Amino acid sequence: MSSAGPAEPPAGAEQPVGDVVVDWYAGAARDLPWREPGTDPWAVLVSEVMLQQTPVARVEPVWRTWLARWPDPASMAAASPAEVIRAWGKLGYPRRALRLREAAVAITERHGGVVPADVDELEALPGVGTYTARAVSCFGHGRRQPVVDTNVRRVVARLVHGRAEAAPARAADLTDIAALAPADDARAVRFSVAVMELGALVCLAGTPRCPACPVRDRCAWRLAGSPAYDGPPRRVQGFAGTDRQVRGRLLDVLRAATAPVPADALVPVWDDAVQRSRCLDSLLVDGLVVQTEDGRFSLPD
Ligand code: ADE
Repeated sequence: MSSAGPAEPPAGAEQPVGDVVVDWYAGAARDLPWREPGTDPWAVLVSEVMLQQTPVARVEPVWRTWLARWPDPASMAAASPAEVIRAWGKLGYPRRALRLREAAVAITERHGGVVPADVDELEALPGVGTYTARAVSCFGHGRRQPVVDTNVRRVVARLVHGRAEAAPARAADLTDIAALAPADDARAVRFSVAVMELGALVCLAGTPRCPACPVRDRCAWRLAGSPAYDGPPRRVQGFAGTDRQVRGRLLDVLRAATAPVPADALVPVWDDAVQRSRCLDSLLVDGLVVQTEDGRFSLPD
C-alpha cells in the first residue's frame, strides 16, 4: 500500500505515535476490497453496516453481490424489504438490512441520492450511529474524523490510559484518538483506519501481540507493567440455543419460501414451542416478518 511519506521528525525527536501507526499500516494492512482507493461512500456505508457485527470473511462476498445489485442508494431504495432480507443472507442481525434500506430511502429523498459527508447528516440516517457516521465521512469522503470502534477503544485504553481493557463507550475516546491523529489531513484519514487495524491484528482483546506492535515502547499499559484487567466480569456472547439462533432459523425458512408459510411449517425449526413463538413474535415486532390475513407468515413485501 502506498503512503505519503512520514513527517520526518527533527534529529533526536521521536516520530509522533500517529505517524508510527500510519507507517506500520502501510506494511501490515489487510487487503480488503472496501479499502481500495476510489471506493465510493455508498459502498463504504454498506461495508460498515455489514462489518458492525460480522467478521470480514463473511462480509466480503455479500458486500460484492449487494453492490452489483444495488450500486447506489436509489436502486436500493426501490427494492422491497423482502428482497433486502433475502440478499442479507446469513450475515446475522438482519434488522441491519432493513435499516440500511431505510437509510437508502432517506438518502434518496433528503440528499438527492448522494451519501452525505457531514457527520450530523449521516447520524440522522436510520441505523447510522456515532461510529458508522464517522467511518463513512472519513473512509468514504476522505474527511479527517476520529473513528472509534471496539478495537480502537481498546487501543486507547492501553496506549493512552494504561488500562488492560476498554471501559464502555466514552465520549472522550473520540477526543483521545483525535489527539493522536497526524496533522496532515490525508495521513489523519489513513491513521483512522490504521488504528482500527492495529486493534484488529495486534492489540487483541485476549492475548495482545505486543512484540509485533509498532508503539509498544510508548504504550502506557506496557510501561505500567501490563496490569491485568480488574473490572467487572464481561459477558461472552454464545450463540447455540439463543433467540438469535432461533430467529435465524425461522428467517431461513421464510427466505427459502416462494409463498407465505403456515405456522406448522415453522415447527420443525425448533422444538421448544415457547421459545419458537417468542422469536416469531419478536421478528414480527421488528418488521422482519409479516403475517397474512389467513395467519400465514412471510418476509415483508
Ligand atoms: N476498514 C474500514 N472499516 C473497516 C471495518 N469496519 N472493519 C474492517 N476493516 C475496515
